[in-house]
Amino acid sequence: MINLPKQVEIVEVSPRDGLQMLPAFVPTADKIALIQNLKSAGLKRIEAVSFVSPKHIPQMADASEILKTIGDDPLIDEMVLALNEKGLMRAIEAKPDWICYVIAATETMSKRNANTTIADGIEMCKRAIRLGKENGIKVRGSISVTWICPYEGDVPKERVLEITKELSEVGADEIAFNDTVGRAVPNDVYELCRQAKEMFPQQQFAAHFHDTNFTALANIYAALTAGIEIFDSSAGGLGGCPFSPGASGNVATEKVVWMLEQMNIETNINFEKLDACAEMARAIERRAKSESPAAAGG
Ligand code: COA
Ligand code: ZN
Repeated sequence: MINLPKQVEIVEVSPRDGLQMLPAFVPTADKIALIQNLKSAGLKRIEAVSFVSPKHIPQMADASEILKTIGDDPLIDEMVLALNEKGLMRAIEAKPDWICYVIAATETMSKRNANTTIADGIEMCKRAIRLGKENGIKVRGSISVTWICPYEGDVPKERVLEITKELSEVGADEIAFNDTVGRAVPNDVYELCRQAKEMFPQQQFAAHFHDTNFTALANIYAALTAGIEIFDSSAGGLGGCPFSPGASGNVATEKVVWMLEQMNIETNINFEKLDACAEMARAIERRAKSESPAAAGG
């Protein structure tokens, strides 16, 4: 019989991954309202913002303001994304519950997304982990393009396991495997997750799937059977990385919650309230797209 967990933690990423690519600026009040509604639906850990360059990602220019509003809420474990030194320092200053420090498993993605090398990315991530410990902030080491890179294709599993080892050795609170482009398939997902769990049995892992080729739910199931119990998802299925051409949205939180609950795996999320969040997220997306210069023919 397949051994499945009784409970799974869902990390909601719509306020960051979901909104970051939208073509018009979403008002700060709307972002905060989305976060508050997600909280009401029972989502505890929420990736609220990224501390990246506002020149590259103008949508996240109000990150500090958002954190000031939600940062002290004991019902929200806010997670913030960083991928360079400046972002890390801004993140530490904001004192979130979690920092998600993103590195890449291929040189091209590392260069395009963060203008760095894999090796320097790993060093900065280790620094993030150390600084997190000094400041009472948990740190997730987040490995983008874990299985497939939009620029380099298949990613060798050995390389990902080597990166995992380095982050695990310095005490990462969590390591996330990301199918950034949304084209991974369940057997590859299972194999990597199983080996990682076997090699690093004390390490907490999470997985993050985009749904470009409609394999995200199957990938979650594969990862579950390999012992992963923490999954990212995005209400309404919004999302995508600006430096990952061809990627579509994250797996939708409502789909993940529905599937897990049908499997008798507890998520502690209120489905009706979550559905309203998904509708709100889609409405934000529709509005931003209709307001964009492209939609206006510009
Ligand atoms: N927060 C705020 N501003 C930042 C920043 C950060 N984390 N990192 C860089 N900047 C600013 C710099 O101060 C500089 O501003 P200036 O021109 O006014 O001096 C400008 O951005 C460019 O900085 P530089 O160090 O030359 O960065 P770069 O051009 O090498 O770009 C990144 C690298 C990482 C800053 C940029 O590509 C980026 O932010 N990308 C976002 C990637 C992302 O969000 N991906 C999705 C999530 S995984
Ligand atoms: Zn993503």
